[in-house]
Formats: sequence, structure tokens, C-alpha cells
Amino acid sequence: MQMNDYIELVNEKLDEYIQIEYPENIFKSMKYTVMLPGKRLRPVMCLETCRMLGGEIEDAIPTACAIEMLHAQTLIHDDLPCMDNDDFRRGKPSNHKVFGEAIAVLSGDALLTYAPSVITKYSKNLPPSVLIRVLNEYFQFAGVRGVIAGQVVDIESEGKLCHSEIDSESVNANKKVLEYIHTHKTSDLFQLAMRTGAIIAGADDEKIASVTEFAKIFGLAFQIADDILDEVSTFEQMGKTLGKDKEEGKLTYVSLYGLDEAKCKLSCLFEKCCDIMKKQNMESEIFPNMIKKINERVGI
Ligand code: IPE
Ligand code: IPE
Ligand code: MG
Ligand code: MG
Ligand code: MG
Repeated sequence: MQMNDYIELVNEKLDEYIQIEYPENIFKSMKYTVMLPGKRLRPVMCLETCRMLGGEIEDAIPTACAIEMLHAQTLIHDDLPCMDNDDFRRGKPSNHKVFGEAIAVLSGDALLTYAPSVITKYSKNLPPSVLIRVLNEYFQFAGVRGVIAGQVVDIESEGKLCHSEIDSESVNANKKVLEYIHTHKTSDLFQLAMRTGAIIAGADDEKIASVTEFAKIFGLAFQIADDILDEVSTFEQMGKTLGKDKEEGKLTYVSLYGLDEAKCKLSCLFEKCCDIMKKQNMESEIFPNMIKKINERVGI
């Protein structure tokens, strides 16, 4: 399957899985952000990993869609005034701008619990032992040891960076913190996507370990690209307000390393991803194409 076929499939299923019921406003709010045109990288990665490792794509569809719902939850909360305070997402007003802050908070909460219920309700072909493993992955990466941990440290690190005044020890400490933030706030959902795809395919521990490594590095690179694009891209391209990282004093790869070194690190990480694919005989056109597209966007 090509990228566009996957995206079409995911969009169709997302639409089916969220039906508007009473109280309508919360379902509408959930569906609003989920159905806006995101790139659908995480669900596609879940489905492609499952296919690549010999599984049936169909078996992974509910999990892939649940991960996109979880991703939408992180975006809704990330945009709130108490977090990044962003008015636009996916080219449209952010959830709280349309539905108000209270509904946006509740909508994120709702998605966080609705998503795993989609896995249990629709994964008819998965044996209970596999289902439990998949759910455990979800709870691990969605929770306080996963994406939430990354978001907490991201927020707590705001405004802490000042190059001219800090010694090299503090710079090194910041580098560690930054890697922690990015691997959790971003890599964790990519890890969730690929690991669950592998588990559903019935992959052995070695294969699961190699897709985990790939996803971790891919996610870190993806967030470095996002940091770079926040500085150099346009609203039309990204569909969100840019230049905010600098404005908010965010700890990012650009703020800590500068634009050129951030680009170097990004290239190096994507090369590592390609090496893992070769070494592990991961046969896929989807992953190299994703890497190519991101590199082109960043201008590498
Ligand atoms: C945005 O993720 C949040 C980050 C981790 C940078 P995406 O860039 O994948 O957002 P969508 O899903 O395409 O909107
Ligand atoms: C977001 O990082 C990661 C999550 C939403 C968990 P950013 O705050 O950089 O993402 P954007 O730039 O708002 O999409
Ligand atoms: Mg953020
Ligand atoms: Mg943000
Ligand atoms: Mg960003």
C-alpha cells in the first residue's frame, strides 16, 4: 500500500469510530481535531510495521486509529493557553478556540480513554493475550512515564535557557534534559505505533527491539525537524503559528545547538534510521519516503 492509501483507510475508520452522540458538543470537539488533515504518520507507521513484519493490516487498524486519537489528545492539550497557547492547529483554529477551554480539556480527557476502548471494541481478531500487550503499550506510552513526562519537562524548562550566562556544565545538563523531553513528548508515540504494529504481527523480541530503536531515533529526529521548522517554515506549510518556541523561551534543538548543528543532528539520526532498516532487513518504501519528505521540508 502507498502512503495515500493508508491515509485514506485511516481517515475512513477514524470517521467511523467517532459517532456524534449526546452530549454532542464533546463528541464534536473530539472529532474536530481528530478529523482535521494531519499527516497521519503514527497510524501509518503502525500499519506499515504490522505489514512489514508479516501481519494483517486489518488487525492493526483499531490500534492505529487509537494512536491517532491519542495524538490528537496531546495536540489539543498542547495548544491550551496554559501550555503552548497556540491558536491554530492543522491549518484551522485550535480546539479551545472553537469549543472553549473547558470542552477542550474534557475533549482531551475523553480521547485519552476513548482511544483504548476503540482497541478493545474493534480488534475482533486479536487473541486476549495480544490485546493485553497492546493495551499495556498504550498505557505505558500515553501516561506519566511516557508523553506526559515529556510534556511536563518541556513546560518546566521554558525560559531556563540563556547561552551567555551559563557554564558548560549547565549546557551539558540542558542537552540531557532536551533529549529526555523530545524522546518522551514525541518519540514515545512513534514507539507506541511501531511496537504495537510489531506485536500485532506476532513479531519476536528481537524484531520488536529493532523497531523500537528505529522509532526512538525517528521520533527524536522528527521533533528536531519540528524545532527547525518552527524557526524557518511558514504557516501555510505547517498549519500552525510558527516562531512560538523562541517567543516562549522553549528548550529546543535550535535554541541549544543553533540551526546548522540541529540540521546536522537531524541528518545523522535519519542516517541511523536507514542503517537500522538495512541491518534488520526492514523492507518498506514508506519509512524511507517519510524520511525523504521531512528532509526536503527542512531543506536537507
Ligand atoms: C505535531 O505532530 C506534534 C509534534 C510531535 C511535533 P505532527 O507534525 O505529526 O502533526 P500532524 O498530525 O501532522 O498534525
Ligand atoms: C509537541 O511538541 C509534542 C506534543 C504535542 C506531545 P510541540 O509543542 O513542539 O508541537 P507543536 O509544534 O505545537 O505541534
Ligand atoms: Mg509543546
Ligand atoms: Mg506546541
Ligand atoms: Mg513545535
